[in-house]
Parts: sequence; structure tokens; C-alpha cells
Amino acid sequence: MSRNPNVTLKPIYERPSISQHRAGFMNKMSASSAYQPTDSIDGVLVEDLVEAHGSPLFVYSQRTLEDRYQELSGHLARRWPRVQLAWSYKTCYLDAVCKAFHAQGAWAEVVSGMEFQKARRNGIPARNIVFNGPRKTKEELAEAFEGEAIVNIDHFDELALAEKVAGELGIRPKVGIRLNLAAGSSVQRWGRFGFALETGQAWDAVRRMIGGGKLQLAGLHCHIGTFVLDPAGYGVAAGKIAEFANRLRRELGIKLDYLDMGGGFASKARLRSQYLPGEQVSPSFAQYAEAITDGLSALAVPHDETPLLILETGRALVDDAGTLISTVFANKRLPDGRRAMVLDAGVNVLFTSFWYRHDITPCSEPRGVPEPTVVYGPLCMNIDVVCENIMLPPLEVGSRVLIGPVGAYNVTQSMQFIQLRPAVAMISPAGEVAEIRRIETLDDLVMGESVPSWLS
Ligand SMILES: Cc1ncc(COP(=O)(O)O)c(C=O)c1O
Repeated sequence: MSRNPNVTLKPIYERPSISQHRAGFMNKMSASSAYQPTDSIDGVLVEDLVEAHGSPLFVYSQRTLEDRYQELSGHLARRWPRVQLAWSYKTCYLDAVCKAFHAQGAWAEVVSGMEFQKARRNGIPARNIVFNGPRKTKEELAEAFEGEAIVNIDHFDELALAEKVAGELGIRPKVGIRLNLAAGSSVQRWGRFGFALETGQAWDAVRRMIGGGKLQLAGLHCHIGTFVLDPAGYGVAAGKIAEFANRLRRELGIKLDYLDMGGGFASKARLRSQYLPGEQVSPSFAQYAEAITDGLSALAVPHDETPLLILETGRALVDDAGTLISTVFANKRLPDGRRAMVLDAGVNVLFTSFWYRHDITPCSEPRGVPEPTVVYGPLCMNIDVVCENIMLPPLEVGSRVLIGPVGAYNVTQSMQFIQLRPAVAMISPAGEVAEIRRIETLDDLVMGESVPSWLS
């Protein structure tokens, strides 16, 4: 393109369009559906990021991640004397993200041997690792017990295995048990994890543990769900945990070291079924902290025996810190007349699109009238729908969009299906950019493969 100011550029042709005027299009909070084009993330130009690291590209804002951490720990510390956050590795176990949380003081919460090793490699001592999950192997339990990790037992078979491992090691490790409990009518119960409280199974597990004499009960754990939009559910759960702890003390003389309330707070994302945007619906950290500590106030222990309150918050700490830059690859008209757009990122890297309606924001001033648009990814699969219906103006091929919030569960659940996985960058609070995972290559993909001799 000529940059000579004397040359008059031909105006760009804009396809005329008619759009139906719909009464009541504003939402009931009277906010319009207008979007602000955004060309940077934390002050760094999207174009510069793409030029250096390609598209699609996940970008994590270290500042947002640290702000969220400080906000949550501040609200908890004002309400409970002893608090510890344990970063939920599965939410995003990129080393840079984990280390950013560890630098703020977070322990690690892991749900597999692989995550345990990752936390150890990130410099976390075993005693600062909370080991959860329904499958811990004999070897993993042995390593965890030897390092004095916080192991929360999930079921009776694991209890038996833990006793066996403890017996073989000749030690009597401290463990916790995961309680499965009903947290009120607003929280859908996950039946499969932990020992059921209301049926008496949890009490049986404790008696069994005491009878076995191989393990010491040191903590209680629960995790009532994920994206729990009603803080009251935490109040109910915390109240039940407190009552259970009181009973342990009263009837069995057990003093607990910790109460672990798990994770599950909502981020600012918007569920597909949600009418209003996340900012208007998701509770604040203050509301969650208030509900938990209110519930725990039923605990009847002397002040100097107050157990450590552990939280394993994942999504609400990292989701809002993650954005995906994507590029418009094609525009098309569907047989039913709807406008559609094909991006270079799909459900292969945005697993959460199945449940959340992510915001899609153009990076440059769009031309033309917004229309309901279906946003597809690049996969040759019908299910590859990033968003079924979003008002978007026409966006030229090659233009960028920002998709967010996508910091939680996408990088860890992304699949190398048809496409190679994109790079991930992090922006520091000072505005420095670092690539924290490079783009995947075909060599990465075939690294573990081999061809049997009769085919080679
Ligand atoms: C045991 C446990 N703790 C913590 C988390 C983190 O939950 P969230 O990301 O919803 O905060 C999970 C996720 O499901 C979990 O299973």
C-alpha cells in the first residue's frame, strides 16, 4: 500500500445490509450489547504478540493473576486466623503460572502422581502439597507419606491401600478424608467423590481408620463443585464440616490440623445458560469468604487449636487472567441465512466453549452492522463451535479477536486433535512478554511413537 499522502485511496467497499430492529434488544440491566474493540492486553499490542508468537495464542496476565490471589487471600485472612491457599494444578499447570502463584505463597493441590511430580519440580516441598483425587497408586502414596504431604483419602479401597503402605513404611502418617455432602438446594451434588456424610459412611471411615491404628486423622476435606454461583452452598458445607469436627473431638478426642474447603468459586465467565454477563452474576471473593467463615463459626475448639483453613481455588484465580488471541480465517453464509465465521482456534484449544459463552472482542474498529453470528473453529468436525450465537460486525479475513476469559482448564484440557497446540505467552506486571510454552511441532507429536518392525 502506498504511503504517499497525495495519493487518494479508493474507499473500501462495504456490503450494504439490512438488519431487523428488535424492540427490547437491550438487556434488562439496560446495558447495550455494544463491544469496545481492544487492540492490546496489559498494554502490549495484540499485533506485536502475534508477530512474535503466532496465532492462535494464549496470553496470561501475571498482574491479574496476582491481583486475584491477593484479593482472595486478603478476604480470607481478615476472617480466619490461619489460612492457606493451595494452587489447583489441574486448572492450569503451566510451570510459569504455578510459579507465579507459588511466589505469592500458594501451596500446590494435585490430583495425580504426574501433578505431584510437577509440583515437586516447581520446588514445592511435599509437606506443602495437598494430594487429592480418586486414584493414588501405592508408589505415589508412599512418596507422599514419606514427604509428609497432605493426603486426603477418597474411598475405602484407598483407605486400605494407605494403611498397607503405612504398614510397609513402618510409619503412622497423618491423613485427611474427603467428605461428600449435600451443600443445599442451589448446589448440584457430585456423588462420586469422598465418603458420604449424611449416610454415616464418613463416620464409618473414621472408626475404621482409628481401629486400623495405621493412620492418624488430621484433616477434613470437601470440594462441593465447580463454578458454584451461590456462596450459601459454602456456608452449608462449612457448617456441616464444623459439626463433624466437633463430633470427632467430642466422641473420639480427635484434634484436627486443617479443614480444607476445596475450590469451586465462579470466575467472571458466563455459562451458556446464563442470561446476564459474569460481572453481574458471579459472587465476589468477599461473599464466598464470608459464607465459609460463617459456617465454620460452628466449630467449638479453643482459639489456640483453630485448624488451618485450606482453600484449593483454581478457576476464579486464573480464568480472568487468560485470553486467547485468534484470527479470522474465513467468513461464510450458512444455508439457513445465518452469518458464520471460521477462526483459527476451536474446541481443540477451547474446551470450555462447551459450557461457557466466551466474550469475543474484535481487536480493530469493525465496519458494518453487527449480526447474529456462529463462530466456528478450524476443525473438520461438526462439534467445533466456539460460540453458537454472538452479535458481531463483519470481520475481515486476517483480523484478530480476543476470546476470554479462558485462563482456566483450557490449556490443561486442550487436545492435539487435527491441529498442533498454540504457544502461550505471559505478560509481567512491568509489561515484559515471555513465551511460557512454545508452539507444538510435529516432532513433539510423534516423539513417543514407533512403528513395529513388520511395518517399517
Ligand atoms: C479436589 C479439587 N480441588 C480443587 C479444584 C479446583 O476447582 P475450581 O477450579 O472450580 O476452583 C477441583 C476441580 O474440580 C477439585 O476437584
